[in-house]
Amino acid sequence: MTQRTTKIPISSIILDEDIYPRKGIDHRRVGIFSEHIRDGFEFDPIEVEPAPDKPGRYRLLDGAHRWSAYKTTGKDNVEAIIQELDGIDPLLYAAKKAIGPRQLTEDEARNTARRAYKNNSKLSAAEIGTAVGRARQTVDIYIADLRAANQMGMDIKIFCMNRLGVPQDRISKRLGLARTSLHYHLSKMPTLASSTNSDLSQGFTVSQVAQKHGWTDPMVWSLALEGKDDRDRFKELGWGLRTWDQWDFNDCDKRFGDDWPGRIPAQLIAHILFYFSSPDDLILDPMAGGGVTPDICLALGRRCWAFDMMDQSKRPEIEPHTWTLSSNGHPAWPVSSKTKADLIIFDPPYFNKKADGYDEKSISGLSQDEYLEFLEALFTLVKRHAKKTTRLAFINADWRDFQSTPASEETGKGAIMIDDYLDILKRTGWQRTHIIQAPMSAQRFSAVVVSAMQKKRILGVTSRYVIVLKQSG
Ligand SMILES: C[S@@+](CC[C@H](N)C(=O)[O-])C[C@H]1O[C@@H](n2cnc3c(N)ncnc32)[C@H](O)[C@@H]1O
Repeated sequence: MTQRTTKIPISSIILDEDIYPRKGIDHRRVGIFSEHIRDGFEFDPIEVEPAPDKPGRYRLLDGAHRWSAYKTTGKDNVEAIIQELDGIDPLLYAAKKAIGPRQLTEDEARNTARRAYKNNSKLSAAEIGTAVGRARQTVDIYIADLRAANQMGMDIKIFCMNRLGVPQDRISKRLGLARTSLHYHLSKMPTLASSTNSDLSQGFTVSQVAQKHGWTDPMVWSLALEGKDDRDRFKELGWGLRTWDQWDFNDCDKRFGDDWPGRIPAQLIAHILFYFSSPDDLILDPMAGGGVTPDICLALGRRCWAFDMMDQSKRPEIEPHTWTLSSNGHPAWPVSSKTKADLIIFDPPYFNKKADGYDEKSISGLSQDEYLEFLEALFTLVKRHAKKTTRLAFINADWRDFQSTPASEETGKGAIMIDDYLDILKRTGWQRTHIIQAPMSAQRFSAVVVSAMQKKRILGVTSRYVIVLKQSG
């Protein structure tokens, strides 16, 4: 923690209620302070820290009453200690300062303790107690319900990751849990499953049970469908099984995967799993986006390791990893484990389509050459980390720059076609075994857009393919 003392404009200081431990300003106290200031009394400097996301502004850590008094007396500048808290919780720091001259009331102490715990559930009751001026046991009582909910939330995350076969060292790292705490949570998993199963056996629906226990639907499906074979699982999920190599689905099944740019229909992933994997196989999804692959793996009883550059706390099973070409031209493999996947489902951004929806470091921001170079490196890398029997299911579409261009006038410049991907895949040692048409639904286009395209003879793209490959040679 570092600090410096200087004069700063009163107008640059804000009272941020998020880190203010008291219920409000005591105006009688401000009145007394104002009189002291007018009499020429010098107070200790107030304490502030730079306000996050507000350049040039400071938020109060200590001295709200002095600051209010300075304002009422018309002062422009005030002596302030500018603190850099370096990770110390500002709410607790402010609370500790506040109890110096006057204890927090019961309400204020409870409220501050709960807010501090909600901000950071790793804080101990003793740490919170020291800051709010209460005994550890009292803080235990203040935060008991939050702690129970937090433990339950942790149980649910662990249940999901464990069921998907994420190794314990990665669960610990992802959830910031010590191995001993993880073992404690893991020991509760059978009980967790049995209370959910008991509700299912009483006839409650999957979504009712999910809602009651705070689980996700796919997690409850994973229990509800346990022991059934794939075809029965399809039936229970209400999906017709496609028998031929054209898989078209009008809608994304909203029970699986999140609303996500470039979201793939859950039924499409389910069909890949049905034809190209077996129960309990390990599925790898290097760019898992809204999580449809792990969700379907839960429903169909497969294990799944999923990665994406976007770190989403509500999706702990998707581990954050950004694939980039390193100086030696190879992206790094995200895990040290020697275990190899049975099936890799790779659904990258289709060149720069939906680039606005992804992070600026996404591969959708690359030039055409860089994008192809990246894919070549990734296909090489996944082959190096695959078993002889591992299948790769690569999902992509023709990318033509047809905006405002009649079909007969397209130059083909800048286009990336499915053949280009097939060439790279062949070069990197992958042999195509199947190519399945899985067109995107055209229903989302408005009649106005369709009519304008037809008028100009523009030929749009709804084609999408699942290319399934095995290793050549
Ligand atoms: C087409 S989306 C995947 C959608 C997913 N299958 C679904 O249905 O929700 C492509 C994903 O690739 C991720 N991505 C793009 N560049 C990446 C990179 N360099 N490393 C890791 N993830 C990346 C994006 O964040 C995005 O979620």
